[in-house]
Amino acid sequence: MSPDTSSSMMDDLLHETRVFEPSDEFKAQANINDPAIYEKELADPEAFWAGFAEELDWNKKWDRVLQWDPPHAKWFVGARMNACYNCVDRHADGALGDKIAILFEGEPGDTLTLTYKELKREVCKAANVLKKLGVVKGDRIAIYMPMIPEAAIAMLACARIGAVHSVVFGGFSADSLSDRINDQQAKLVITADGGYRRGSIFALKPTVDQALGVSPSIENVLVVRRGEGDCAWTDGRDHWWHELMAEARDECEPEWCDSEDMLFVLYTSGTTGKPKGIVHTTGGYMVHAYATSKWVFDLKDSDIFWCTADVGWITGHSYIVYGPLANGATVLMYEGVPNHPEQDRFWRIIEKHKVTVFYTAPTAIRSFMRWGEKWPDGCDLSSLRLLGSVGEPINPEAWIWYHENIGKKRCPIVDTWWQTETGGIMITPLPGITATKPGLATRPFPGIAAEILNETGEKIGVGGGLLAITSPWPGMLRGIYGDMDRYVDTYWSKWDKGTYFPGDGAKRDAQGYFWILGRVDDVLNVSGHRIGTMEVEGALVDHHEVAESAVVGKKHEVKGQAVAAFVTLKEGIEASLEKETELRNHVAKKIGAIAKPDSIIFTAELPKTRSGKIMRRLLRDVAEGRALGDTTTLTDPAVVDQLKEKYKDD
Ligand code: WT7
Repeated sequence: MSPDTSSSMMDDLLHETRVFEPSDEFKAQANINDPAIYEKELADPEAFWAGFAEELDWNKKWDRVLQWDPPHAKWFVGARMNACYNCVDRHADGALGDKIAILFEGEPGDTLTLTYKELKREVCKAANVLKKLGVVKGDRIAIYMPMIPEAAIAMLACARIGAVHSVVFGGFSADSLSDRINDQQAKLVITADGGYRRGSIFALKPTVDQALGVSPSIENVLVVRRGEGDCAWTDGRDHWWHELMAEARDECEPEWCDSEDMLFVLYTSGTTGKPKGIVHTTGGYMVHAYATSKWVFDLKDSDIFWCTADVGWITGHSYIVYGPLANGATVLMYEGVPNHPEQDRFWRIIEKHKVTVFYTAPTAIRSFMRWGEKWPDGCDLSSLRLLGSVGEPINPEAWIWYHENIGKKRCPIVDTWWQTETGGIMITPLPGITATKPGLATRPFPGIAAEILNETGEKIGVGGGLLAITSPWPGMLRGIYGDMDRYVDTYWSKWDKGTYFPGDGAKRDAQGYFWILGRVDDVLNVSGHRIGTMEVEGALVDHHEVAESAVVGKKHEVKGQAVAAFVTLKEGIEASLEKETELRNHVAKKIGAIAKPDSIIFTAELPKTRSGKIMRRLLRDVAEGRALGDTTTLTDPAVVDQLKEKYKDD
């Protein structure tokens, strides 16, 4: 599959001549402003990463920086550290004890601040609660929470005692939650009764109850009371967070973990129906998250850093919790949606809390564009000094809008390319060095080796091809939970065993800048959320009236991509608008609302090759209204013509 956006987007980018230099003022104060860093680190990337590692606290130093047995890497071999200690204790017990670590704003407008000292107390208490419930080092803990401080506290408490957390985004369904719990045999779930979303309470506990009906490994459920507290209760299994926290001791020694001990598992979609539990370990991940937070977001003591992601995604792990807190930054956390009570909520938050660095997704930026300039114009955004973008390719138009209307032409923009698997930012401008171009992620972070390769592994100097990472990096995934073969097959088998295949198409210009064009596999990126086409197909076929389905992505103005489904119903079942709604809801029930198809086209037959393979390429052409590609291998070419007609009518 080639990226669907490639041709038109590539044309746009080819004509992109606008270049934005960081101002002298920004350069002068930047954490890194010497362009020679790119050459220096090339000479010795291991020494480069070790330099950052020296800035963290270790209980025992490493014997070796890297042990590389492709495709298996160990970083900071033999070292011991604790991720929570590095995020919390070293600041709480040092000069930053009274500095605000977490600045929370709930959707109803309530606020809460936690200094590093207070955060340490809360995290220690939570760690003691987990211990009391029998959690020991290595146990897996599922976290299914709204965006409230307790989500970060729960993650850090797990890290403190060496338990492995697995955060599941609160928008996922009971089925998705139980699949993830079962895959790793998690022992405990931390959740909340609910959280505020669009002005009302979005219940979470009932979904957990439903999931636990088929997840027998769970022994205890810890429930934070964020809503009205009126949820169903299973005595002996369910415990109120605030009750156990009230009794817990506020001191807890951190567990000194091996650098390669598992820190967390985070599930993400792939090209099969089964999500992958991406495994991240401790030392290398922390060094990567710390270094990129420091240099890409240029974090200073005076910054208020706001990353709008949910902690359920990797962005929330690396740039709400581990990276900024390891830097001793003040992190803003916001619970709700950007348009409640009105479309200026984000700008009001920036004004109120004097946010200095703001990191969000292109989908959000495109929504803001739609809502109009009057919303940001009505707020004082002068505290902002740096902007970031992540999650999907940012179209130049959105980039320019962001630059002009939010950054007021003053703030550099860092368009950061990375993945759940990479753990931290990989391709990005350095805001005090890089001259940026709208839509381009620009250059690999120092210490990261990226290339554009063709299918057979030949390097492409200037031009388009597949993005490849050619050396190991500290934050890289160490495996897929319980499935090392899939790890090797998915990521390290396209070329040689030492070259990582991220699944993205990219192009490089004469200046050596990378343009990331989007996925080249059967993975969709809908509003920056990764959705596997096979998962959606599985959810559709799970419906008792569906015979067959094929799911593809189609271009969407705001979401980047939308889910387009083609469905064949069983004999005798009538297609109707009601049936379409029913099937869309069925997908939401099976996976979560984020995976709901935008459109469903009912068809008597799907276009197939003679060997029975569904021709997705043609379906994508149909979904995006393009001229059809080669149809000669089809069993029945008339099928696609009929589909095209239907699509027009839809
Ligand atoms: C996929 C990874 C990284 C955290 C959020 C998503 C796409 C991500 C960019 C960017 C173009 C991007 C890629 C990648 N992507 N950032 N700056 N420019 N594309 O994490 O769910 O693991 O998805 O998101 O296609 O492979 P994820």
